[in-house]
Amino acid sequence: MPEQSITPTYDVENAVLSRYQAGAETHEPSLCCPTEYQDVHYLDVIPDEILTKDYGCGDPTRYAKPGDVVLDLGSGAGKNCYMVAQKVGPTGKVIGIDFNDVMLNLARKYQGAIATKIGFHNTEFVKGKIQDLKLPLDPLQAWLQANPITTLEDIARYETEGDRLRAESPLIADESIDLVISNCVLNLVKPSDKQQLFQEIHRVLKQGGRAVISDIVCDETPTEKILNDPELWSGCIAGAFLEAEFLQMFVDAGFYGVEILSYAAEPWQTIDGIEFRSLTVRAYKGKVGIGRERHQAVIYKGPWQQIQDDAGHTYFRGERMAVSDQTFQRLTNPDGPYAGQFIAVAPYQGISSEAAAPFNCPPEARRDPQETKGADYNLTQLTVDSACCSPDSCC
Ligand SMILES: C[S@@+](CC[C@H](N)C(=O)[O-])C[C@H]1O[C@@H](n2cnc3c(N)ncnc32)[C@H](O)[C@@H]1O
Repeated sequence: MPEQSITPTYDVENAVLSRYQAGAETHEPSLCCPTEYQDVHYLDVIPDEILTKDYGCGDPTRYAKPGDVVLDLGSGAGKNCYMVAQKVGPTGKVIGIDFNDVMLNLARKYQGAIATKIGFHNTEFVKGKIQDLKLPLDPLQAWLQANPITTLEDIARYETEGDRLRAESPLIADESIDLVISNCVLNLVKPSDKQQLFQEIHRVLKQGGRAVISDIVCDETPTEKILNDPELWSGCIAGAFLEAEFLQMFVDAGFYGVEILSYAAEPWQTIDGIEFRSLTVRAYKGKVGIGRERHQAVIYKGPWQQIQDDAGHTYFRGERMAVSDQTFQRLTNPDGPYAGQFIAVAPYQGISSEAAAPFNCPPEARRDPQETKGADYNLTQLTVDSACCSPDSCC
C-alpha cells in the first residue's frame, strides 16, 4: 500500500483552523468543489449565510434514514447537518462537531429559526477534534485559562486533565451513533492522527452502524512541494488520501463492506499531473464476536466467477460456502452492503446458541447440502399437481 512518506513540517492544525475561521466569515470560492445534492428541497429552510459557506465536495446526506442518530465530522457552517436533520426527522438526531468557534457560532446562529421552520429541534453543535472524539474542548479550554502552561510539569497536568475529561465526560460516547458522515474534512487531519481518526469513527458507531464519507482523493502520491504548502493542505489538496489508501484505512480500522458510492469523473484540481477528485465511500461496523456454527451456507449469485471478502474468504459463484451464523447474517442482510448478492441457505433444523459451537469460517469451505438439511433427512416428495404446470405446458 503506497503511503505519504513525507510529513509536513509546518503546523497543519493551525493552518487549517485559521483558513476556515476566515472561510466562516468571508466566502472563499477556491475552497468549493462543485457538488450536486440529491434532496435539494431540504435546502429551502437553510439561510444563504450558511449555504454560501459550503466547503463540501460530495453528498453524504442522502444516505441518512429516518430515526438515525448522525454525527457530522467537521460540520462547518452546518449545511449538511440541517439537511440531515430533516431527513432523520423528529425521532432522529444530528450532532455536528468542529474545532472552529467561528464555524460553530455560524452553525448555531440559525438553530432555533430552522427548528421552528421544520417543526422540531434535533441538532446540536459541539466543539471537538474529529480525531479525538472523546475530548470535549470547551471544558478543556476553560481549564487551560485557569491553569496556564509554563512548565513541563504543567504539560503533564494538562494531559491528565484531558484524560480525565475523556474518561468522565466523553464528548461522543462509544457505540452511540447510527451514521457518521463527513464532507471534505478527513484529508485536513495531520498525517500522524489519521489512523486514530478512523479508529474513532469506528468506536462511536453502534454495531451495524455505517460511515458515509465524502472526501478528496488523489491518484498519485502528492509531491514534496505540494505537501509542504500549507495553503494546499488547508485547501483540501495536500492531505488528500491516495484512492486505494482511503478505502484501506476503513478496513484497517475494522470496517467491512467498504464501497465506493461515487467517484467524480473529472478531477477537481490537477497539480503537476496529479489529479485530485471527490470520492464518497460507505463502510459498515459490526464484525465482532465469535462466529457460531449453525450449518448455514451462502451461494454467491455472480456475475463474477468468485469474490473475496476483506478477511480472505472466497465465495465461488453458484457454490454452497460454509459460513458462521455471524457471517451468514452479514452477507444476507437486506439492509447491508451485500444485499441481493447471495442466496441464503438456512438449516432445516435450528441450532440453539448453547449448542452452536464456535466456527471460524475456513477460507474456502464448502457446505454439504446434507449438513443444512440434517443427516436423517431422506424425504421423497414428487409434485404432481403443481400450480406451475398449466394444462397446456409440458411438465
Ligand atoms: C472543508 S470544510 C468542510 C465543512 C463542511 N463539512 C461543509 O461541507 O461545508 C472543513 C471543516 O472541518 C473543520 N475541521 C478541520 N479539521 C478539523 C479537525 N481536526 N477537527 C474538527 N474540525 C475540523 C474546519 O474547521 C471546517 O469547518
